[in-house]
Amino acid sequence: LQADLLARIDGAASIEAVEAIRVEALGKQGRITALLKSLGGMTPEERLVEGPAIHALREGVTAAIGTRKAALERAALDAKLAAETLDMTLPADRTPPGSVHPVSQVLDELAEIFADLGFAVASGPEIEDDWHNFSALNIPETHPARAMHDTFYFPNEGEKRMLLRTHTSPVQIRTMLKDKPPIRIIAPGRVYRSDSDATHTPMFHQIEGLVIDRGITLGHLKWTLETFLKAFFERDDIVLRLRSSYFPFTEPSVEIDVGYSIVNGKRVIGGSDGWLEVLGSGMVHRKVIEACGLDPSEWQGFAFGTGVDRLAMLKYGMDDLRAFFDGDLRWLRHYGFAA
Ligand code: PHE
Repeated sequence: LQADLLARIDGAASIEAVEAIRVEALGKQGRITALLKSLGGMTPEERLVEGPAIHALREGVTAAIGTRKAALERAALDAKLAAETLDMTLPADRTPPGSVHPVSQVLDELAEIFADLGFAVASGPEIEDDWHNFSALNIPETHPARAMHDTFYFPNEGEKRMLLRTHTSPVQIRTMLKDKPPIRIIAPGRVYRSDSDATHTPMFHQIEGLVIDRGITLGHLKWTLETFLKAFFERDDIVLRLRSSYFPFTEPSVEIDVGYSIVNGKRVIGGSDGWLEVLGSGMVHRKVIEACGLDPSEWQGFAFGTGVDRLAMLKYGMDDLRAFFDGDLRWLRHYGFAA
């Protein structure tokens, strides 16, 4: 019996098979259990011989079962570990990393270029009041320029009419009221106009520039913008054309055109085959300087403003402004802005 049981225990292929043998040998109806029970019906002499033999058999079989079970459990664990092995040399799954949006990229470039020219960055609220957005900039209630701005007004008809700023020029006012001249700031940010087509979105980005000091002239304005555009478009052959224009808050006002050349049928900034309007600018109107509590006979300055998204389109050759705000990865990838 012992030899038979031990051989079968050793040969058992699974924990369940070992368990079945244990029940068969040591269970309530088991063969060894039956032998143990039979001791009661033996003579003392028989029992003296059979007792130790049966107990030895039980211990031997119990030990063999324990050993076999442990071996099978270890084998099962080894198999599981082997199946779950990680190959540390495999390349990791590629989770696409985030990337910088072209507008953010251009805003960073602008801040860096103007920092080199000594300009600090200023900001103001996107929810603005009528006075900062219009009146203080010499655009009174009745002024036709208000109609051109397609303003989003808030429905508060009270004493302080609120709106979404239509340009970054109110930051000129806020800066002059807050800081003492000399002032040299740029103010990048979101602006809003009720307008939408391939070159207009209801929200877009502008950057404003303001310099207030003694003895500032149009010459300073031209040099600053020329230096800025050369750095931004990374070209030395930048040609500017200053065109007389009109803004209520500058006098004189000049529209800045930049020359382009045609390369492989595409417009490239630089040269002078044609002209693209890139900035509005001018000498800060004395009424604006006065509205900010400064004396215009002592302090003069220039201001300029332009669309950041438009600058990005010109630099990176994009043609639909709306795509900037669609969040379409294919579009970003096409222009090299996403992995
Ligand atoms: N605020 C003007 C616009 O939105 C641009 C501008 C800024 C013009 C500063 C002159 C001086 O069109």
